[in-house]
Parts: sequence; structure tokens; C-alpha cells
Amino acid sequence: MRTVLVTGGSSGIGLATCNMLMKAGYVVYSASRSGNGSITEDISGGRVISIKMDVNKEEEIKSVVETIVRDNQRIYALVCNAGNGIGGSIEDTSVEEIRYQFETNYFGAMKTIEAVIPVMRKQGAGKIVTLSSVAGIIPIPYQGFYSAVKAALLQTTKVMKIELRPFGIDCCAVLPGDTKTGFTANRKYTAAAMDTNSAYYDKCTASLKKMEHDEQNGMSPDAIAKAITRQLSRRRMATMVIPGFTYKLFGLLGRILPNRLILWIVGLMYS
Ligand SMILES: NC(=O)c1ccc[n+]([C@@H]2O[C@H](COP(=O)([O-])OP(=O)(O)OC[C@H]3O[C@@H](n4cnc5c(N)ncnc54)[C@H](OP(=O)(O)O)[C@@H]3O)[C@@H](O)[C@H]2O)c1
Repeated sequence: MRTVLVTGGSSGIGLATCNMLMKAGYVVYSASRSGNGSITEDISGGRVISIKMDVNKEEEIKSVVETIVRDNQRIYALVCNAGNGIGGSIEDTSVEEIRYQFETNYFGAMKTIEAVIPVMRKQGAGKIVTLSSVAGIIPIPYQGFYSAVKAALLQTTKVMKIELRPFGIDCCAVLPGDTKTGFTANRKYTAAAMDTNSAYYDKCTASLKKMEHDEQNGMSPDAIAKAITRQLSRRRMATMVIPGFTYKLFGLLGRILPNRLILWIVGLMYS
């Protein structure tokens, strides 16, 4: 049976992905800080094993990877989904807050990927899916460091696709647009952004409110899970996948329109 490790499997897109993979017959390790060891089984023979793993703790990642290899001999795929968002203008975000934004989304993903690659290299096969975002292509004001971390993840995934191909390892970045999950409620505003004296306070607050409304009226996490599951079933995965027609179009425009025009449109939407 194919074994998949999904980070951030306890809610939203990760949870939907774990359930969909289970129904497709995979053995899924759903990793999160709240993992509790429970096992859910499906009629297909697939199952989801909930495990405690903070992607920022290398010893927890190492132990989980060892457990998966011990119990299953192989790791078919890794889905790096754990993430969070912060809100605030560039000026209103401290270096500590920037580090926080990169910690789980980037360094956490990289720590997990670097723990799994040696196993996949030894197998001569493997698939790695990362969760970037449409915000990784289109710059989003007042979520600048979220945009930055998702762009970094996207670019790194493309590089991995080149470097890991000789070892039989394939990589794919999935870029959701607004998706209705707990992500919105989990977003942290930077300290300076919450100060009513901030030069950005009105614009930042109004823009984030609009973005949060769009998220909560956005795509279902199942639609993103479907895209991830589909890629994992393919012999060769796409380099980049944007689920949903509207966001595919945004992604395309973000890549082909002149920067000046993109920034003008985004500025009109959020300023
Ligand atoms: N929702 C959107 O609109 C949207 C759009 C584009 C991209 N994305 C990306 O999609 C991914 C999933 O987001 P979501 O919308 O499903 O958010 P979510 O509902 O808030 O889920 C986040 C998941 O990450 C886990 N997590 C957070 N910190 C972790 C850590 N240090 N170690 C391990 N797990 C951790 C959480 O579980 P615990 O708290 O139990 O650890 C939870 O399972 C993220 O990478 C996000 O950036 C989301």
C-alpha cells in the first residue's frame, strides 16, 4: 500500500487531503502539533494515522520518518501543507515576525523535505507536493511576507524538481487561491498593524477584512485535496497546479501581464 506523509493534516486542506487519500486506499500519516495517535480506517483499506509532529522540531520529524519507514518500508509521497499567515504592511512587520512567517511555511517544509529525501533517494522513487499559493505569484499587500514565503516555496519546489529527477523523485507545487478553512481565524496580525496610530491602519485593516471575507467565501478544501490527490496518482506530476478556473486565470495573468499593470490592478483592489 502507498504511504503518504501529510503535514498539517488536522484541519482545512490537509484534513481534506488525508480523508481523500484514505478513501483512495492510501496509508496516510496525518502530522500536526495536535496529532493524537488515533487511527481511522476506510472500507477501501486505506487509513489515516494521526501523529504528533511539529514541523519546526527536527527530532519529531526524524522520529516520524523512522516510524513510517519501520512500519511500511517505503514513503510513497510527502505533502508539505502545514502553514499559517500573518497580516501587516512591510513597515509594520518586525524581523521577528518575518521569521515567524518563514518558520513553519518555509523552514518547517524544508526540514521535513530534507528528512524524507534520503529515504526517497534510496528507494529510487518518491513524490513531494508543496502548498504554495496564488499569493506566491501575485503580490498581496498587507500580506507581503506571506506572499514572499509562498514565492520562496514555489521557486524551491521548481529547483527540487530539477535536482531530484535523477533520483526518481518528482515534485509539484499546488497553489490554492482563497479557500475556506481555519487559516483565516489563525492569521496573526503584527503588533504594529494593530496599533491604531499606524500609518497603514485604515488601509491594512480594510484590505485584510476584504481578503478574509474572500477566503471564507472561497473554494472548498476538498477541491484543493482533489488536485493534490490527482497529482499523486499521476506517473509524472505537473510542476505547478492552480485549482479552480478563476484562480488559474489569475495565475496566468500574474505571469503574462506586465508588472506595472499587475501592481496597478492589485493596488486598486486593496488600497
Ligand atoms: N486557506 C487558504 O485560503 C489558503 C490559500 C493558499 C494557500 N494555503 C496554504 O494551504 C496550507 C494549509 O492551510 P489551511 O487553509 O488548510 O489552514 P488551516 O486550516 O489553518 O490548517 C493548517 C494546518 O497546519 C498545521 N500546523 C500549523 N503549524 C504547524 C506546525 N508547526 N507543525 C505541524 N503542523 C502545523 C495545523 O495543525 P496544528 O495546529 O494542530 O499543528 C493545521 O492542521 C497552508 O500552507 C496555507 O498557507 C491556504
